[in-house]
Amino acid sequence: MEYFKINGGKKLFGQISVHGAKNSALPILASTLLIKGESVIHNCPDLSDVRVTLDILKSLGCKVKRENDTVLVDASNVTNNEISEKTMRTMRSSIIFLSALLSRQGSASIFYPGGCEIGVRPIDLHLKALKDLGANVSVNGSSINADAALIIGTKIILPFPSVGTTENIIIASAISKGKTVIVNPAREPEISDLADFLNHCGAKIYGAGESTIVIDGVNSLYPYEHTIIPDRILASTYMSLGAVCSKELTVNNIRQSHLSPVFPVFNEMGCKIYLSDNSLTLVSPKRLKRVKSIKTMPYPGFPTDSQSPVAVALSLANGTSILQETIFENRFRYVSELNRFGTDIEIKDNIAVINGVDKLHCANVHATDLRGGAALVVAALCASGESNIYSIEHIDRGYENLENALSSIGADIKRSKNEGATKEKTVKKEYE
Ligand code: UD1
Repeated sequence: MEYFKINGGKKLFGQISVHGAKNSALPILASTLLIKGESVIHNCPDLSDVRVTLDILKSLGCKVKRENDTVLVDASNVTNNEISEKTMRTMRSSIIFLSALLSRQGSASIFYPGGCEIGVRPIDLHLKALKDLGANVSVNGSSINADAALIIGTKIILPFPSVGTTENIIIASAISKGKTVIVNPAREPEISDLADFLNHCGAKIYGAGESTIVIDGVNSLYPYEHTIIPDRILASTYMSLGAVCSKELTVNNIRQSHLSPVFPVFNEMGCKIYLSDNSLTLVSPKRLKRVKSIKTMPYPGFPTDSQSPVAVALSLANGTSILQETIFENRFRYVSELNRFGTDIEIKDNIAVINGVDKLHCANVHATDLRGGAALVVAALCASGESNIYSIEHIDRGYENLENALSSIGADIKRSKNEGATKEKTVKKEYE
């Protein structure tokens, strides 16, 4: 198994670039299944979750090619409607193939993506929405079968703006009869990116990013080229890193508006943010200030995925900060590992009470999940001395070549093999 060896305590400097958004790439790649022809997807990050998605597309009969950061998916011949249980369980977002298969093949035979380390993550809203759209959906143990001769538009009121459910509804009803209205959809930028892609392919999706989405079903879609939006969660991870390990750090390839929910938090910490077209420069104060209260919320609220890297910055702030997690019930698992670096974080139900400390010390820790793992990397880069981070397969799901990116701004981080294997403890799979 691989692990990161990090010699921390170095001041980081310069410019770092953000790759394409994982949470856009996954549904957009799944939706290429709807298109009889070759879709060309630029700025597609080379992440383990993306590789699993491409393997699923291949197993369904698509021809898939990667040329640097461009992925070509030719879905002219789709020959299968099944995804194995093993594959489904490797990645939570494989559930997005339910609507894509239903649309393309008229039926889908898949399995529950499973629970995970950050919460129970049921799929009841996904299944109900597809039933509302006219599909027959049956669940037998962990297997899910769905079929529909035709998707028929309807009005769906979501009790919670679930990201994955909104994407499944959009994908299912892009090619359909009639009009679908989603009330209270997720408004994340990745939803708008999916809608933009499908609209360029001939779909009629209106209102993505707003409080109601209307989809006029069309008969078919045609291939198009699309560029994935930058990963706002990666950008906020780099901002957290800049806040604690750098006087001045420039983050390139960002969309300012996508980061507006996190800017106030960094401002409250005393950081100055200088914006130009598609980049930002974060200038950090000598000592960060505490933030009174942060609550994770659906977009445009503070993102749950940015919670853990920001917690590291708050751990080094002057005073006590309160961080409340409202989206996932089990998203503070990383804290017991993080506290090994000398942070002083207490968890009470879904609230983290973060008492700022002066400095961190090195530690050997295990990543418990994707974003929690990234937080451990940020902590190790701040802590003087040598830290080892194990179970980094979690981190590889969402951060492309993290060690190369961080080395380019002066970090001493290496990916190592073997030695870590003996020190590994078993950490269950996590599915963001
Ligand atoms: C997506 C993101 C993930 C992010 C999350 C919230 C991807 C691949 N993943 O996950 O990074 O943290 O949005 O911004 O885009 N829920 C139900 N029933 C359902 C579906 C969801 O109860 O059928 C609950 C979940 O348990 C959770 C909440 O709704 O408590 C949010 O989930 P959802 O927005 O669906 O997140 P994902 O799409 O899984």
